Amino acid sequence: MGLVLGIESSCDETAAALVTTERQVLAQRIASQDEAHAPYGGVVPEIAARAHAERLAPMIDAVLKEAGVALHELNAIAATAGPGLIGGVMVGLVSAKALAMAADVPLMAINHLEGHALSPRLADPALTFPYALLLVSGGHCQILRVDGVGEYRRFATTIDDALGEAFDKTAKILGLGYPGGPAVERLALQGDPDAVRLPRPLVGSGEPHFSFAGLKSAVLRAYETQQHSNADLAASFQQAAIDCVNDRLTIALDAMGPVNALVVAGGVAANKAVRGALETLARARDLRFSAPPPELCTDNAAMIAWAGCERLPTGQNDPLDIAARPRWPLDPTAEPVRGAGVKG
Ligand code: KG4
Ligand code: ZN
Repeated sequence: MGLVLGIESSCDETAAALVTTERQVLAQRIASQDEAHAPYGGVVPEIAARAHAERLAPMIDAVLKEAGVALHELNAIAATAGPGLIGGVMVGLVSAKALAMAADVPLMAINHLEGHALSPRLADPALTFPYALLLVSGGHCQILRVDGVGEYRRFATTIDDALGEAFDKTAKILGLGYPGGPAVERLALQGDPDAVRLPRPLVGSGEPHFSFAGLKSAVLRAYETQQHSNADLAASFQQAAIDCVNDRLTIALDAMGPVNALVVAGGVAANKAVRGALETLARARDLRFSAPPPELCTDNAAMIAWAGCERLPTGQNDPLDIAARPRWPLDPTAEPVRGAGVKG
């Protein structure tokens, strides 16, 4: 059995977790910084980095103590090394390097997106490669074919906003605060998804890429007419977004060849309406559907530790001078698309 300490600090969650190769999460802690960033309506990098620096060391101590594990018993220390806000990533990566050096344990520099991409396998032992992955978070919106650990082929990305970002911006328009996704989902339950006519950007186009900037602007215009309730706006926005995801995924699934499952991961995968729509799509195509439990969808350290567990059998470690990376695509061979690459 292998035992890996995972560290996550790429955005506004500080997290540490101990996970075994047998899929046991022995201990984990997550501290969200929502309150610190809420007054600004988004994550402020300097505030995030400082908060990570204050919280991480005691948190690592706490998970080791809770599990009764000493540093030298670890098979690896896995830390997010990018992509993300560079100050925060550096706090986590430098902490991991120091611990790895002190305890003479291998270091693994993990791609945060790989953490999301493999997270469904932590919760679902029956999920085997290859699978189609919809990775939807605050900074990323991609469709990938996952053929194995380290083997990712990107079929689609967003040419402007990520899906989580569209939820967050809609929440801001409706005065729901930050982070907006869960609040929009809650309000949408009380609204009519057909009440407001909204565009479905790129639906029908031959390539499976995403675009959400126009949808967000349409929500703003509809809001400004003062003709709709916020609940109807939230429900109609969510439905338009889901229609886009369904259409884009259909194109991508046709293009990527046979896979064992349709999988969703990343913060937006916590959304029940999104999960429901994807499950229906998977059933219609005779595909297995897999989604991690909501607490594994949003940023956490168990998924980073798990990515380390997945890598253990390969024997691949990283040197202690490896650099943090603000950008780090999962599929470096993927061609850039028009307008994309602005974020992550
Ligand atoms: O994966 P994550 O925690 O952080 C990033 O790596 O970006 O994703 C956060 C994003 C935010 O945009 C948040 O609004 C969205 O995921 N999100 C949701 C829900 N829960 C989180 N979006 C829609 N519905 C939800 N229930
Ligand atoms: Zn994330």
